[in-house]
Amino acid sequence: MRILFLTHSFNSLTQRLIVDLTAAGHEVSIEFDIADSVAEEAVALYRPDIILAPFLKRAIPATIWQNNLCLVVHPGIAGDRGPSALDWAIQRGESAWGVTVLQANAIMDGGDIWAMEAFPMGLEKKSSLYRNQVTEAACKAVAAALARHLEGRFQPCPLERWPDVRGIERPLMRQADRKINWESDDTRTVLRKIHAADGFPGVRDELFGAPCFLFDAHAEPEMAGRPGVLLGWRGQAVVRATCDGAVRIGHVRRPDHAHTFKLPAAVAFASELESVPLLDDAGADGIRYEEAEGVGYLYFDFYNGAMSTDQCQRLLAAYRQACACPTRVIALMGGEDFWSNGIHLNLIEAADSPADESMRNIRAMDDLAEAILRTTSHLTIAALAANAGAGGAFLTLAADLVWVRPGIVLNLHYKNMGNLYGSEFWTYTLPRRVGAEQAASITQSRLPLGGTQAARMGIADECFGEDAASFRNEAKKRASAIAALPDYGERLAAKTEARWRDEAIRPLTQYRELELAEMKRNFYGFDPSYHYARYQFVHKAPHAWTPRHLCRHRNIL
Ligand code: COA
Repeated sequence: MRILFLTHSFNSLTQRLIVDLTAAGHEVSIEFDIADSVAEEAVALYRPDIILAPFLKRAIPATIWQNNLCLVVHPGIAGDRGPSALDWAIQRGESAWGVTVLQANAIMDGGDIWAMEAFPMGLEKKSSLYRNQVTEAACKAVAAALARHLEGRFQPCPLERWPDVRGIERPLMRQADRKINWESDDTRTVLRKIHAADGFPGVRDELFGAPCFLFDAHAEPEMAGRPGVLLGWRGQAVVRATCDGAVRIGHVRRPDHAHTFKLPAAVAFASELESVPLLDDAGADGIRYEEAEGVGYLYFDFYNGAMSTDQCQRLLAAYRQACACPTRVIALMGGEDFWSNGIHLNLIEAADSPADESMRNIRAMDDLAEAILRTTSHLTIAALAANAGAGGAFLTLAADLVWVRPGIVLNLHYKNMGNLYGSEFWTYTLPRRVGAEQAASITQSRLPLGGTQAARMGIADECFGEDAASFRNEAKKRASAIAALPDYGERLAAKTEARWRDEAIRPLTQYRELELAEMKRNFYGFDPSYHYARYQFVHKAPHAWTPRHLCRHRNIL
């Protein structure tokens, strides 16, 4: 089928659906929801069999849904309506939720139901819930709806006939609904409120007497104090007492600040660093090391997968320590929601010289990539239970083995960020895996790749696991098996030998210097595209057009 995506942005769910639907043999084109007239034009140009709205903030124009089958993905159970579906579900502490695929009609989220997929819920951040359970459920529900449409006889179910309707219409959640009462809210309630606003819009509050929006909260069960009092800094996060414990707040957005976008709390409140004590920051930087059965597991759970200069340096130090351990395999496990998204664009934007900070950050990423590439003491594995993008996706290729989950999305390109040339030794590692021609095609096409596709193309070595938890369990079994291989020694020797052969042909430093020379031009050169793109990205500027590589209907002209 020809499927037109009408979407607010090219977000992770949209990308995953495109990967799935293309793999299922459908032809997909994308139009961002910019104006009714633009959407109408896209429909006229593409003449799709179905229009799918995976992530839309406005209603589809009547001129479109009256004349085309339009399916809307709503992150709520049957009967749930409104723009804050997940926010309310998290705040109310639902233990089960779902995604519904509805046929667009005159009532926003009120159309007949084509499919619904349920999932269990715990105390997750909204952003995390969206990238994991919601994405998986949405993919299943869309696949079911499309199969039903193709089958031809299926009649979507009006809500009145749906069994056990629990959902109701709920309004936009306002800041008044999110307000934390520090005197009386316990830790769980505070976490629920901040989690329900994570990603966007955050919970409006005050820290150090200044207004700010709170994100990225974690329980601090070992700490307590007078409710509402700031107990100190742990890493880049500030710890605040609740009525039965404390929470750590990692990120804030200050509307009154020189930089109004999201930043680590210690950066946004740099001038207030000395006004509260520094607490023990062990474990607060997202880096964790574990060992089992000859394998060292390095976890790096960085907010939004962004890796600042400091985070890269800490991770490199942790990596070197892992290399010094008497294990045989090192598995780089990434974080809960992302494996890595490359250099930290928000911190770069906030730096006195974004060009200098970009250079520092990319060098720190390269140091890490180089240390992994030069490892001769261990076999290394990049184990991706979650998505990776740009420099973060290329960093995976520094490992000897890349393991992915079918449901992950890899954005193996830099071009979207103002035509960045890219670094992390990609000019060595990508052609090494897929050949020069395919490497060029992957980086130029700027399209997301699914896990299965990445494995088929040779970008990943193995692809397994139903969900993130089963992937991690299976990855551990496979990593231990490698550590126990009778020919482990020969494998390690073969890898080392291959590295020296490659080094003799062209030293790693040459790849690094060439890439960095190009990056230097991106950061300091005449063309400001990277600085412009980064500004737009960090400030979340609305899209003014759909990039040409996404809207194939405009290329048929
Ligand atoms: N630096 C800082 N923040 C980043 C980031 C980065 N490198 N990559 C992603 N983020 C943030 C986004 O701003 C967003 O913030 P929010 O919490 O305020 O919503 C959040 O991470 C999630 O990103 P989003 O774009 O919504 O996620 P996605 O899964 O839909 O898309 C990517 C993933 C990788 C395609 C997209 O985030 C991206 O293009 N990131 C930039 C990658 C990049 O160019 N890195 C620099 C070159 S190495």
